[in-house]
Amino acid sequence: MNDKQAVVDMLNADLRDEHAAVIQYLQHAYAIGEGEEACEIEAIAREEMRHFDWLAQAIVALGGRPDMERGKVDLSGGGPGEWMARDILAEEGAIAQYKKHIAAIADSKVKRLLQRILADEEAHHDIFTHLADKLAGGKAEAQEPLEMRKAEGVPPRVLDILQQGVRHEYTVILQYLYHNFVTPHCEVGRELEMQAINEMQHLGWLAEEVAELGGHPDIAHAALSLEGDTAQMLQADIEAERAVALDYTRQLDEIEDEGLRKLLARIRDHEVYHGAVLSDLLAEVEETAKPEEAPGP
Ligand SMILES: [Fe+2]
Ligand SMILES: [Fe+2]
Ligand SMILES: [Fe+2]
Repeated sequence: MNDKQAVVDMLNADLRDEHAAVIQYLQHAYAIGEGEEACEIEAIAREEMRHFDWLAQAIVALGGRPDMERGKVDLSGGGPGEWMARDILAEEGAIAQYKKHIAAIADSKVKRLLQRILADEEAHHDIFTHLADKLAGGKAEAQEPLEMRKAEGVPPRVLDILQQGVRHEYTVILQYLYHNFVTPHCEVGRELEMQAINEMQHLGWLAEEVAELGGHPDIAHAALSLEGDTAQMLQADIEAERAVALDYTRQLDEIEDEGLRKLLARIRDHEVYHGAVLSDLLAEVEETAKPEEAPGP
């Protein structure tokens, strides 16, 4: 037997590592660019997102709070072959840790979940090993580590706008996922999860633009507002949507490239829609939360 807190702590360690794996693999996929290999890596990142989701739900079911901090992301390495070697290492670390946690945890439901995830990690390890072989010889010339990449010849303001978008999208993904995990309100949770998935698309679009311009997407987040009841969480989310829709609208005037303008306008329109849907939900939540009319004397 172990106490719940010990299990929650183990699951939160796994959660932080899944979070890091998602970001590390996405960065590698963006840097590699178009092609079959990048697709395979993105598919693995999506599986890690599913693990993240399952672990967070298990943590909440045990009465814990999911830790939205991220584990260590390794962006070293001078090219695709070396990046795949880092990803193999990440999978080896995950496999070892899941095995340790499966042995340490008595709760059969949690054990079963971790076994399920472990099977994926073993498959990922094989895929990355295969990709490492395929990508090894590809680009022999030394490349700069990802974090040092600068987009040369791109107007700095355009890059700033894209990077600001990347940071915003990452921030709301984490915030909406967290709110979805902890709200007892099913409909709100479902909507926030849908919106988080939509924000992941935005993040992908903007990050791919940065990478295509030769830069390194800055996947860092601003302060998250995690506290409060469902109504307070929705208020924070509506505020985030309003602010970013305004930012994107202003930034549209600063961009000349027609393709980028269209992309930003499309994302902005999504944000306006998100804000409206969340406002409707907030009105519903507040309506049902109203105290019953007190009976007369
Ligand atoms: Fe995973
Ligand atoms: Fe994995
Ligand atoms: Fe977005």
